[in-house]
Amino acid sequence: MSERERTFVMVKPDGVKRGLIGEIVSRFEERGLKLVAGKFIEIPRDLAEEHYGEHEDKPFFEGLVDFITSGPVFAMVWEGGDATRQVRHMVGETDPAESPAGTIRGDLGLDLGRNVIHASDHEDPGSNEREIELFFDEAELIDYERPDEALLYE
Ligand code: GTP
Ligand code: MG
Repeated sequence: MSERERTFVMVKPDGVKRGLIGEIVSRFEERGLKLVAGKFIEIPRDLAEEHYGEHEDKPFFEGLVDFITSGPVFAMVWEGGDATRQVRHMVGETDPAESPAGTIRGDLGLDLGRNVIHASDHEDPGSNEREIELFFDEAELIDYERPDEALLYE
């Protein structure tokens, strides 16, 4: 059975302003993932710069930080088997135009710079834990059981 783990996800300002929080949360809930933390915040610029630090030398960095700080985001932690990789599968490609139908970006977005959602990168080991720590205190991560876990996992 796949390892249970936690991953960081956030609905970006475009997704929040377009009223897509509920749609996105529903997809993860229905998949069987468990919400263990969530908060509605405006990201301070220094946090945004740290979060996207891997891109600081890229030409799109300033625009990316401007955008992610341009309005509220809904930050979350989701838990489940192989969660980081499974969430990225559900999110789709970085560019919504290249994302298959059925993925969040493929169904809900059109443009690379307005791609609705962020999720930790399963190809960057440790990014999930690093991002969770950046956005949440330990006390904000809530442990509980989903009664349907017995049906979701063998
Ligand atoms: P995140 O979940 O937001 O981290 O996206 P990602 O992991 O799919 O892509 P990546 O981390 O490589 O890039 C971070 C964000 O920068 C993307 O979500 C895009 O919005 C933006 N971005 C990435 N590449 C480009 C680019 O070539 N041009 C522009 N304008 N934006 C880009
Ligand atoms: Mg990324």
